[in-house]
Amino acid sequence: KSYKITVQNTGQEFVVEPEKIPYGRHGIPGSILDTISKTDSELIDHACGGVQACSTCHIIVEKGLDSCNEISDREDDYLDQTPGLTLESRLSCACVPDGSEDIVIRIPDWNRNEVKE
Ligand code: FES
Repeated sequence: KSYKITVQNTGQEFVVEPEKIPYGRHGIPGSILDTISKTDSELIDHACGGVQACSTCHIIVEKGLDSCNEISDREDDYLDQTPGLTLESRLSCACVPDGSEDIVIRIPDWNRNEVKE
């Protein structure tokens, strides 16, 4: 069934329809970046194109983190280089919710408009 990703700082809502995954844009299929970039490719920076080779797609998962996949070693390495790291930080191209609950994310201010493709 579908679920929702809300971006706290912009108020935008993105409905994820699992049967349409992968959206095929950026990041791991079904990742938060995959979903959001389908509708708004500018909202979250993704300098490396979503292959976990930068940290510009850093987001903070305010709600629903428990329903997301585990952090891989690769994601962890890049998260370590992220300014303003929090316990709820993820790379949106690598963070895949299982759809069991709605997600609320925040895009860190220091990430927005900092690096453009
Ligand atoms: Fe580069 Fe996610 S877009 S790590």
